Amino acid sequence: MNVQVLGAGHALPSRVLTNKELEKMVDTTHEWIVERSGILERRIIDEDKAASDLGFEAARMALDEAGVEPEELDLIIVATATPDMLFPATACIIQERLEAWNAAAFDLEAGCTGFVYALTVAEKFLLSQQYKYALVIGTEALSRIVDYTDRNTCVLFGDGAGAVVLGRGNTGSGIICTYLGADGRGGKHLNMPAGGSALPANPQTVKERLHFVKMNGNEIFKFATRITVEVSEKLFAMSGLGYKDIDFFIPHQANIRIIKTAMKRMNIPPEKTLINLDVFGNTSAACIPIALSMSNQEGRLHDGALILMVAFGAGLTYGGALLRWGRD
Ligand code: ACO
Repeated sequence: MNVQVLGAGHALPSRVLTNKELEKMVDTTHEWIVERSGILERRIIDEDKAASDLGFEAARMALDEAGVEPEELDLIIVATATPDMLFPATACIIQERLEAWNAAAFDLEAGCTGFVYALTVAEKFLLSQQYKYALVIGTEALSRIVDYTDRNTCVLFGDGAGAVVLGRGNTGSGIICTYLGADGRGGKHLNMPAGGSALPANPQTVKERLHFVKMNGNEIFKFATRITVEVSEKLFAMSGLGYKDIDFFIPHQANIRIIKTAMKRMNIPPEKTLINLDVFGNTSAACIPIALSMSNQEGRLHDGALILMVAFGAGLTYGGALLRWGRD
């Protein structure tokens, strides 16, 4: 018995923010952004929408593809660093819109590794046979916490959502293994300092722009290139599989240079690597399920395809999963 992806979905705002537009907002150039990050443009959520709206849309698509009704869901996990509000959970907001009245619902915060963490948690509930169907959503409205006066961060992030419906199966398809980790010592390198219980919102925190993402890009870069390879090797050691067995590599989409370095070290060719960073930027917990859903929609993911997913993010967290595409 293993846990399979029964359906996948995604949602992206229609508004495109180009590098040329960013040139007018901060001291940067299209050429610098493309060369140093690989990002050409990103999507920005409408003013009257929130992370739950994108998450709901992605979830609806995943449910339709899975052929699962909302009332059949036992569990909804939303991975996000940009919940609609601190509480109630965005998962509960989406539960209400889906009318998934039989589902437990909670948010999971593991930064950009959130989707892989949520996938792993949902897999355990399904394997224990406590639940039959789970919905895992990665949704982000990062433009709401990005400082568009800070060129070090504002060029990198974008908004979007991806979702999968999971269920049990008996064929060889499904999640083969997952691996999660964290190193809290690196938490200081990527955070949003204010708005929580440590530093509640006040005029001073607003004045000091502490409700925006703060990032030490160089430290994250070093961590990311090392950890992507380490996580992959852990997964291969656990599964007995190797790089040569991989059909698709879906890395966290933070920077094309991080991805290329990892691909080179692991000898994974470009045609096996699914990239959406160029057109969507870093959509954090959403980028891996977006890549899964879009590639599936394009017909690229054949049954039996072996997919390696690896992510890293705020925490610092890291993790990965090996997935054999297909369902009973
Ligand atoms: N335009 C022009 N110049 C810039 C820009 C910009 N948008 N941003 C930074 N610079 C400048 C810096 O100020 C610096 O100038 P200085 O030398 O005068 O101080 C110079 O460019 C070089 O800066 P570096 O930080 O060394 O640039 P680097 O090539 O390392 O690229 C980047 C920076 C893109 C942030 C890179 O470090 C990176 O991608 N890091 C990883 C970030 C990441 O993955 N974050 C998220 C991970 S977790 C998650 O997804 C939530």
